Amino acid sequence: MHLLFICNFLSFLAFLPSSVYASVLAIDYGADGIKASLMKPGVPFDVLLNKDSKRKIQASVAWKNGDRLFGADAYNMASRVPKDTFSSLKFLQAAPSDSPIVNYYGTISSAELVETSRRTVGLKRSDGSEWSVEELIAMQFAYIKHLAEAVAGEKVYDVIVTVPPFYSQFERDAVADAIEIAGLRTLALVNDGTAVAVNYAMTRTFTTPETHIIFDAGASAIRATVVTFDAMKDAAKTTTITVSGVGYDRITGGTELDRRLREILIAAFNNKHKRDIRGDQKGMAKLWKEAGRVKAILSANNEAMAAVESAAFDLDFQAKVTRAEFEEACADLVPRFAQPIWDALVNAGLSLENISSVILTGGSTRTPMIQAAIKAAVGEDKIALNVNADEAAVLGAALHGASLSRQFKTKSFKVSDISVHNIQASYFATSASPSARPRTISTLIFPAGSKVGTKKTLTFKRKEDFAIWLDYKNLVAPGFPMQILEAEISGVSEALQNLTDLGAVEPVVKATLSLSESGFVSVTDAVAFGEIKDESITGKLKGFFGAGSSASPEETETGSAENTPPRDTEAASSTASPSASSNSSAPEETEVKKPVPKENTIPLNITVKFVSIPPMTVAEKKTARSRLRAADAQEAAKTRREEARNSFEAYLYRLRDLLEDDNQASPFKKCSKESERATISEKLDSSFNWLHEKGDDADTPQFLDKRSTLETLERPIIHRYQEIEAFPRALNTSQMWNWSTRLFLTEAKANLTAEAAAGLPSKWTAEELAALEKTLLDHESWLNEWVEKQKSVKFNEDPVIETTEMKARAKVLETHLQKLVKRKVPKQTKPKTTSSATTSSTSPTPEPTAESNTSSEGTTTTPAAPPEQETVPPVQAHDEL
Ligand SMILES: *[C@@H]1O[C@H](CO)[C@@H](O)[C@H](O)[C@H]1NC(C)=O
Ligand SMILES: *[C@@H]1O[C@H](CO)[C@@H](O)[C@H](O)[C@H]1NC(C)=O
Ligand SMILES: *[C@@H]1O[C@H](CO)[C@@H](O)[C@H](O)[C@H]1NC(C)=O
Ligand SMILES: *[C@@H]1O[C@H](CO)[C@@H](O)[C@H](O)[C@H]1NC(C)=O
Ligand SMILES: *[C@@H]1O[C@H](CO)[C@@H](O)[C@H](O)[C@H]1NC(C)=O
Ligand SMILES: *[C@@H]1O[C@H](CO)[C@@H](O)[C@H](O)[C@H]1NC(C)=O
Ligand SMILES: *[C@@H]1O[C@H](CO)[C@@H](O)[C@H](O)[C@H]1NC(C)=O
Ligand SMILES: *[C@@H]1O[C@H](CO)[C@@H](O)[C@H](O)[C@H]1NC(C)=O
Repeated sequence: MHLLFICNFLSFLAFLPSSVYASVLAIDYGADGIKASLMKPGVPFDVLLNKDSKRKIQASVAWKNGDRLFGADAYNMASRVPKDTFSSLKFLQAAPSDSPIVNYYGTISSAELVETSRRTVGLKRSDGSEWSVEELIAMQFAYIKHLAEAVAGEKVYDVIVTVPPFYSQFERDAVADAIEIAGLRTLALVNDGTAVAVNYAMTRTFTTPETHIIFDAGASAIRATVVTFDAMKDAAKTTTITVSGVGYDRITGGTELDRRLREILIAAFNNKHKRDIRGDQKGMAKLWKEAGRVKAILSANNEAMAAVESAAFDLDFQAKVTRAEFEEACADLVPRFAQPIWDALVNAGLSLENISSVILTGGSTRTPMIQAAIKAAVGEDKIALNVNADEAAVLGAALHGASLSRQFKTKSFKVSDISVHNIQASYFATSASPSARPRTISTLIFPAGSKVGTKKTLTFKRKEDFAIWLDYKNLVAPGFPMQILEAEISGVSEALQNLTDLGAVEPVVKATLSLSESGFVSVTDAVAFGEIKDESITGKLKGFFGAGSSASPEETETGSAENTPPRDTEAASSTASPSASSNSSAPEETEVKKPVPKENTIPLNITVKFVSIPPMTVAEKKTARSRLRAADAQEAAKTRREEARNSFEAYLYRLRDLLEDDNQASPFKKCSKESERATISEKLDSSFNWLHEKGDDADTPQFLDKRSTLETLERPIIHRYQEIEAFPRALNTSQMWNWSTRLFLTEAKANLTAEAAAGLPSKWTAEELAALEKTLLDHESWLNEWVEKQKSVKFNEDPVIETTEMKARAKVLETHLQKLVKRKVPKQTKPKTTSSATTSSTSPTPEPTAESNTSSEGTTTTPAAPPEQETVPPVQAHDEL
């Protein structure tokens, strides 16, 4: 069923590669699991499988004996090395170390948390090393990258990652930083509900506008997204996907349910055994895993048996948990399950009547308690289970990414998303007297519900440098800061003076604030602007600034490169006309609609500072990336050492088996001398001793070296055996050419005589035939002599003639023969390639065909198949984008 869907789906998705074949990776990073998908021409579009062919990859990383583990391997380590197993990291993205969510994390994980230099949290391993959340998530992204590259057969760089729509700039920064540390490139961040909407739209057509709610209950949170689907009147019937409202609950997800279920198990354990399992980290981890399992059973059954062998203190644990008991423990959460739907509707300005269906997605929508709450809230008839609850987001994200990368032709669609937080711009008012305290003016520049991918311009009557602060007007999450960044606009007085000098009257400063498609806000452009009255000066000015101020607002980079790496590769799609609430109490600030004419502007400097939770600096990211690389390299070296050790050990055992084989007719025995075996045996014993005594401390080169020493002793024996095996074949080949040359000579001589008698032209002269005969006789006599000698050589002695030499000599004869045979080949059927000119098979129809077959078997230089150059670019070669 699922595969069928994928196939059907592909049928109307044509991949039209443009100049570059690049792949797009999509990652749906959850608190519990990761889903990934790869878009690449020629590769079936599906969810990436992990190395165990599982579709879901646990969002965990763990260390075991210094090696990192990922996915389920890592997740399962929690009960063995709780201090080195890190899961549910999504909860910690950008979280200030003193925020409530960090305390919450402490109730679901026993990992040790530390504060980073950026005041966010890092995690401490048992060896004392500290890793930031970004680094640990980057490791998982890098792991996914490797999986994708194995499927793509090439490097993968571009990635689109889903984020909850409520993610603040800090959290989005944390995701983008992890992407960069992993060696990937952020194509975009997409809100997960929006990604599901894209997935929903791809298989459907809309004749009239339809509004649905995507209800996504994941591990960490619940969110509801109001989306309207419609078709445009254009030729492509572009589907429009418009988000108009979002509601969310940051904490009421599957993980919280697991936590509460574990509390039941903890109480049962403590009650039964009169000991507190909370003190036992491994025991707590075991109960955590068991809670997840029991929750899944309770989704389909009214009761479940929790059972953990040796849960803690060497005590086995068993307890019956009923669904009623579980639901009782979660009773207070029930009103919160559906609340995001009401919030989303309010934000969208709609009511339930306007909604065609509530599309359930996310693993936690399988929990009966949550489903029941949604049914009760919206009515059973509105519930739709028509997208894949686990994979719709990642598949939709991949499609969205593919359309953004512009390298694929997908079904035509246009996404319009919103930002959910009120973002305001603040600055000091110019004060009349220098001694007066400056008054702060704030304006809601991107109110909640603003479309992403838009820009707004603020105009300031300033004479001096000044700063603009971008803040959240309301708390985005408990304990998170409100301040996003501070942008200092400098060079103001000089630029204004220059404009005034050029005839501008009352020049002003215009600052462009952008809300990117991925939901990042920044001051992206600032210019001094003035209306220049004097026509003649305007004319001069045009020439003067024609080249100098060519930087259009879009091209101007934000701030200093060190602090604000560009986040989004997408260009802002539209320049919105901001009708937004400008605060009337701010007299000097107005918003303008028209783009600024270039000839009247002078670019100003913008320096962006992060005043609260900064994104990682370039230097920090470089350091993080090299830490990851070092871990990779260390693990690779360890793997190589293990392989060298294992293969050395295997070699020793193989050699011992050969020596101890009682069968005197075994190739090894047959082809070796007693003395050789004694030497090998001696060396073998010492190698075994060395392996047992020193093997644990030895390094890769030592294993390779020890092995090589033994191989040198074994090699002559192998060689003899190979020669004995190869000899009959080589001899046959030699005799074949010998025989067929003789045959040819006999016939050619007869023909020559006949042609001479008839006065006809001949192809060969008598001298040429005589020369060939001489070559033949040389070959024969060499062969006779050495084959005789070889016959007296014992199996365990080195051969007197090598089959390679036999082949080479046969080749001389063959080449000579072919030269004459070829002569009768008509010119037009000349050999088509020159690449195989080294072998006899160049001749299209050598006289005795059977021989030509034998020859190519017997010669070392068998022509390779022609290189398959044509197979590299995949099928389609259209150029339609
Ligand atoms: C929503 O539903 C109400 C009541 O049926 C209706 O009056 C209103 O026009 C609808 N709004 C939209 C945008 O469809
Ligand atoms: C802008 O900043 C650069 C580097 O900090 C500086 O060299 C330049 O003079 C500044 N320009 C203005 C107009 O302030
Ligand atoms: C102002 O004009 C002076 C003189 O033409 C020039 O050197 C300087 O670069 C200008 N400054 C700006 C910010 O355009
Ligand atoms: C406008 O300013 C007033 C007074 O400073 C303030 O109370 C109000 O919240 C502001 N409105 C906006 C939209 O920022
Ligand atoms: C030599 O080659 C011929 C023809 O391929 C074959 O029939 C014969 O068995 C071969 N002899 C040996 C010893 O391989
Ligand atoms: C080579 O072939 C000729 C003709 O068949 C034969 O007389 C001669 O013995 C062959 N020589 C060897 C070494 O086989
Ligand atoms: C000898 O002549 C016959 C008849 O013309 C021809 O078929 C045959 O290929 C010739 N043989 C050689 C070796 O040239
Ligand atoms: C040559 O050998 C190949 C495979 O070894 C065989 O398919 C082909 O029929 C042979 N050609 C002749 C002319 O014997």
